[in-house]
Amino acid sequence: MSTLANHQQYQQRINDFLAAQLDKLSVNDEKLLEAMRYGLLIGGKRMRPYLAYITGESLGAAQTDIDAIAGALECIHAYSLLHDDLPAMDDDDLRRGKPTCHKAFDEASAILAGDALQTLAFDILANHQFSDKIQPKQIILIQQLISASGYQGMCGGQALDLSATDKTIDLAQLEKLHSLKTGALLEASVLMAAECASQISSQDKQALKKYAQLVGLAYQVQDDIIDITSSEEELGKPKGSDLAANKSTYPALLGLQGAQEKAENLFQQALQALASLPYNTQSLADFATFIVKRSH
Ligand code: IPE
Ligand code: IPE
Ligand code: MG
Ligand code: MG
Ligand code: MG
Repeated sequence: MSTLANHQQYQQRINDFLAAQLDKLSVNDEKLLEAMRYGLLIGGKRMRPYLAYITGESLGAAQTDIDAIAGALECIHAYSLLHDDLPAMDDDDLRRGKPTCHKAFDEASAILAGDALQTLAFDILANHQFSDKIQPKQIILIQQLISASGYQGMCGGQALDLSATDKTIDLAQLEKLHSLKTGALLEASVLMAAECASQISSQDKQALKKYAQLVGLAYQVQDDIIDITSSEEELGKPKGSDLAANKSTYPALLGLQGAQEKAENLFQQALQALASLPYNTQSLADFATFIVKRSH
């Protein structure tokens, strides 16, 4: 992880921001709040926040605006993992090196913690004190998060994932599934951060969108690869979970080498998408490298 510039610093920043958001909530139910803390604050690479911060950095956006983008996206991501691990979905017992939320607490708590974290994401975006120039765009940011996380985004992708289990689907269907379940939030990490830049041409936005889509897809392709090639210790989640569940993945469809070639190809295309941008995009290029090299 150390190959990503300022990763620790941004990880600390988002962890502090998220902890403060939970501290602001008045306690109605200790157990639910504890389950939310468990799902949100314990571990996690914080890749979506990181991507939002480095995009903001490249485009000269204010970090205090990016805090809300990063925080909201990580809340949606954490909720998606709590629900993804449930017996009704992937039925996994280990996450981030610890028992999954429904194992540490119970299924009802994991469901409710996921629900409440989803709402917290919109709470953060709707109530954040954005800088004067960005404030008028608050509704646009909320709309972006809606399409990335709901039926047209992550949630819709999770449904496609479940319906593709125990089936063979074609490459185009698999690409759509991956782009929605994982790509959508990563794409939003870049595009929502870009919205916080005071000036950006629509052409540059298009190039960033292309980069983000390619990297978002590559993220899930690599997740499918490391499910096979990494150890449980490295992953902090069970090894071979996709095979055991008979999931539709790139390695299942193309073989391990084919999936690795696909990841490499997406990586090269992502670098090309950055080439036309008149900003210093080194950290975005490094992020793409990290994605296809990561082992956890
Ligand atoms: C895992 O996401 C699930 C996918 C969408 C591939 P991450 O690999 O970002 O998991 P954490 O947040 O670091 O635990
Ligand atoms: C997860 O995909 C995607 C979301 C949670 C939206 P996976 O099911 O492959 O994620 P892991 O491998 O359990 O982290
Ligand atoms: Mg899943
Ligand atoms: Mg899973
Ligand atoms: Mg996986």
